[in-house]
Formats: sequence, C-alpha cells, structure tokens
Amino acid sequence: MNNFTFCTPTRYVFGKGTEEKAAELAKAAGWQRIMLVYGGQSAIRSGLLDRVKKSLDAAGLPHIELGGVKPNPTDDKVYEGIELGRKENVDAIIAVGGGSVIDTAKAIACGIPYSGDFWDFYCGKATVSEALPLGVILTIPAAGSEGSGNSVITKLDGLRKLSLRTDTELRPKFACLNPELTFTLPPYQTASGIADMMVHIMERYFSPTEQVEVTDRLCEGLLKAIIEEAPKVIAEPENYDARANIMWSGTLAHNGICGCGRQEDWASHFIEHELSALYNVTHGAGLAVITPAWMTYVAEIKAAKVAQFARRVFDVTESDEMKAATEGISRLRDFFRSIGLPVTMKELGIENPDIELLVKKLHENKGPKIGGYIQLDATATEAIFKLAI
Ligand code: NZQ
Ligand code: ZN
Repeated sequence: MNNFTFCTPTRYVFGKGTEEKAAELAKAAGWQRIMLVYGGQSAIRSGLLDRVKKSLDAAGLPHIELGGVKPNPTDDKVYEGIELGRKENVDAIIAVGGGSVIDTAKAIACGIPYSGDFWDFYCGKATVSEALPLGVILTIPAAGSEGSGNSVITKLDGLRKLSLRTDTELRPKFACLNPELTFTLPPYQTASGIADMMVHIMERYFSPTEQVEVTDRLCEGLLKAIIEEAPKVIAEPENYDARANIMWSGTLAHNGICGCGRQEDWASHFIEHELSALYNVTHGAGLAVITPAWMTYVAEIKAAKVAQFARRVFDVTESDEMKAATEGISRLRDFFRSIGLPVTMKELGIENPDIELLVKKLHENKGPKIGGYIQLDATATEAIFKLAI
C-alpha cells in the first residue's frame, strides 16, 4: 500500500427534505450574496429552484441566478458566470443540479478571484489557490462532483474536454443529497449515472499497486450494492430506498475513499472524454461502451485484477485467470445492457467514429501515455476505440 492523504471536507446532508437545509448552511457559513447555478429545465419543472429561492429569501440571503448549463458543459457559460458574478459581487455559489452544473459552478468559483483566464487552470498553466465557496443541491447521482475536488469543462474552440483536479480547493463546503429529487430522472440518465459511478470505482480498483485489500473490498462492496440496487431504480423510479442507496454510492464512488493507498488508472475516462467532447454523448453511456473495451485490451496483458473483479464482483467461478476475466467482462456488458445502456459505439449513436482524430486529440490533451494499470500509447488507445465499435 502506498502512502496517502485523504481529506473530504464536504458536509454531506442526506435524506428527505435536505435541500431545505442549504439556506441555513449558507447563512451559518457567513455567505452574503449567492449565485444559484442550474441547468436546463428539470429544476424549474420540479419546482425545486423555486423552493430553494424561497428558503434563501426566508433566511434573508440575497441571490442571483445563472441557468441554462447544458450537459457536457462548455466554457462560454463559465465566462458568462464569471462576468455576472463579478458584476453582482457574489461571495458564494450554490449549484442545483448534476455534474455539469456543479462543474460549471466550480469553474466560476475559481475564475472569479483569478486575474487571468479560468482556462489556465484546466490546461495546466496555473494552479487554483483561491475559489469562492460552493454548496450543492444534487439532482442526479452520477458524476460524483458533489464530493470531488474536480471539474470537467469543454473548450468550444477545439472541443477540448479537460478536467481540473484540486485536492480541497474546489470541494463543495456542503452537499444536500435528497434521493426524492432523483425520482424524475429519465431511465437513460439514471442508467448512465450508474455506469459513471461504477467506473469511478473501477478506475481506482484497476491499479498497479498491490496489497490494498481494504480499499479493494470497499470497491467490491460498493459495486455489488450498485449492481443489486440498479434494476430496482430502473423498474421503480420512486423506490426511495433504492434511490437512496444509489445516491450515496455515487458520492462514495468519487470522493476519493476508493483510491486510498494506490495509484489510479483513469484511462477509460480520458478515452471517453474525447467521445463526449466530439460527439456530445452522455458521459456515463460513453463509459459503458469504452470501459469493457478497455478491460478486454488490458486483460490480454495483465489478466489478474480483471479476474479478481470477475470473481469478487460478478461471482465468476472459473479458475483460469483469462477465462475468468473474459467472463467478468461479458457479465459487465450484460449488466449495462440490462439497465438499458449501449455497449458499442454504434448503439451509442456513433456510426462512423473518426478514430484517427479521437486518438490524436486524446494524446494531445493527455500526453503520449495514459493509464495506471497498464500504460497505453496511441497504438493501444486506437485498438481500444476499435474494440468499442
Ligand atoms: O439540464 P436539466 O434540465 O437539469 O437536465 C439534466 C441533464 O439533461 C438532467 N437532470 C438532472 N437532474 C435531473 C434531470 N432530469 C430530471 N430530473 C432530475 N432530477 O440530466 C441530464 C444530465 O445532467 P448532467 O449534470 O450532465 O449529468 P451528470 O451528473 O452525469 O454530469 C455529467 C458531466 O460531469 C462530468 C462529465 O464528463 C459530464 O460533463 N464529470 C465530472 C466529474 C467531476 N467533476 O468530478 C467526474 C466525472 O467522471 C465526469 O467526467
Ligand atoms: Zn465519470
């Protein structure tokens, strides 16, 4: 096991009605003028946004709004938010939505106090040292941004989708997690979120570091729970306990606990980010296509951990490592299919992917080699894209 530091300073407030606590938490933190960031229609349609505004009014907290964040969020909305936030002199942000909304809010939070271009943080030209504090009211368990220090934004010029990682600077101060707010999610978004959280765990599970049994078992337990709860939320969207289990899994999948003591992988995410940047597909659905293809490729080189995954997560009994790994990958694909997800690029709606361009952009953005479990160069990532067709 490697040395590690694990710090997750976010206050998670979980359960029915917890969105009502946001104003109280903001007030207790001394926030004075808040920017509410939200997405397209869902938070308006459900009445959530109105409820949040009323509770801020009742707490005597002035607020302004920035709506219209789209999935796979882009830099234009961030610039708009930075300008608005400076003009209105906001000192804190509350994101009402999912990963796209939270990530936009995070970009605005570090962009407002910075004198340069916020994109400097994403392309590695500058490091975040200061950011406005951020609170979250989560409406979709998926990206895990409510507990992570990360933010993923696409620059429209060149369609570069890059992630900014911070240790604590961009972690939300609080995250209100009410599973009831997820009842309105369409099945495809629910399923895509499930794939995303599973892959957040797997990116950490597939590690070259050995002897990390506690973290491995945490990952396997979470994955097994997700696999058990997933069909329930698809069949019964208003099953509170199933929604609650899925919601909490999404946060634990990505707040860092599943990576303690080891090197992580992240190749599947880097590969998928090129797909969602270029073809604007739903991130989790893209992962349901890419991750099994990635596993197929790496199992040929190092089958051991893929076999362990197969045996411990999908109860494969095959004693031969390669056969066990292959069976595990097949069961993972079957599981994704069973909750309505695509497992090939064609099913994802990408008929003729421009693999040459995808590979070129991937390595321009992420360097000549990606991945921790196995290091992948351009020949390897091209093979993985082809396996995903
Ligand atoms: O825009 P609205 O109308 O709100 O609709 C959204 C959106 O269309 C809808 N939705 C959200 N909550 C809903 C709802 N519809 C009905 N009822 C509700 N309660 O769902 C759609 C997707 O929303 P989005 O925020 O895009 O989903 P998600 O949480 O999956 O976020 C995806 C983004 O996060 C990035 C992804 O790359 C992608 O850009 N990621 C961020 C990470 C991070 N910051 O740590 C890590 C992840 O690996 C990921 O890369
Ligand atoms: Zn993800």
